[in-house]
Amino acid sequence: MSAKIIDGKAVAQKVYENLVPEIDQLGKQKVIPHLTVVLVGEDPASVVYVGMKQKACEKWGLSSETIRLSEETAEEELLKRVERLNNDPNVHGILVQLPLPKHINSKKVLDAIHPDKDVDGFHPVNRGRLAVGEECFAPCTPAGIQQLLIHNDIDPRGKHLVVLGRSAIVGMPFAIMMMQKKPGANATVTVCHTGTTDIAKHTQQADILVAAAGHVNAIKKDMVKPGAVVIDVGSNRVDDPSAKRGFRLVGDVDFQEVKEVAGAITPVPGGVGPMTIAMLVYNTVQAAKRLSS
Ligand code: GUN
Repeated sequence: MSAKIIDGKAVAQKVYENLVPEIDQLGKQKVIPHLTVVLVGEDPASVVYVGMKQKACEKWGLSSETIRLSEETAEEELLKRVERLNNDPNVHGILVQLPLPKHINSKKVLDAIHPDKDVDGFHPVNRGRLAVGEECFAPCTPAGIQQLLIHNDIDPRGKHLVVLGRSAIVGMPFAIMMMQKKPGANATVTVCHTGTTDIAKHTQQADILVAAAGHVNAIKKDMVKPGAVVIDVGSNRVDDPSAKRGFRLVGDVDFQEVKEVAGAITPVPGGVGPMTIAMLVYNTVQAAKRLSS
């Protein structure tokens, strides 16, 4: 039997539709949520992601601007830009697209974003609030995965949830969210990482398996418990001369074989990706509400 395919585009659409009354209410107060994205350099994947973020904002009635800076931009210049955006009352959300060029200290830049405008949820204040279960900006990809589960009636409560990867953007914050005593969470969480000796031993016990390792085919069929929910966070470019762009996107999960054992699975593209963008729009609307109340 083949797994149910979890449709990220459909859930993202629901998230946007649920936001419409909040956006309308802000409009009545003459507030248009505004996101400023800062893109340094020309990383091709970043250019595409930033374009998608801007398009989503415009489609749902937010305003958005992308500041494009050259690869050679000095760290000091970028920090000044961030400070200006922090002080601009018309800007509700600030996102500095990663990765930044090597000569720039990313942590210093992310830490400079005001926590109340940190719609990526990367500032230590928001990370700390997330860890202790307080209201905060949750990072968009983990928040998006949680919404994917909720909208597909998959309740992590009491389940064994295994996360592959401990990145600061996905694996670690998602594990923290899932262990909390809250609706849409309350799972027993295992995190596998490069220090784990036998990854398959753990993944085979997962009721919900979240692959965020950044490696093609990190999850094969024999690593998955029959009937498990498999969430693929991977977004890897692989050469494909038959594709128009010369490459295609694949996840961390060997989709073709894992869908034969899993109970439900997210595709790449069309699974987690659209949710990340929807949650960025969600966070920007929440920022506008808080900053204008
Ligand atoms: N680069 C890849 N994913 C992200 C993200 O979620 N936020 C930012 N700022 N940069 C990214």
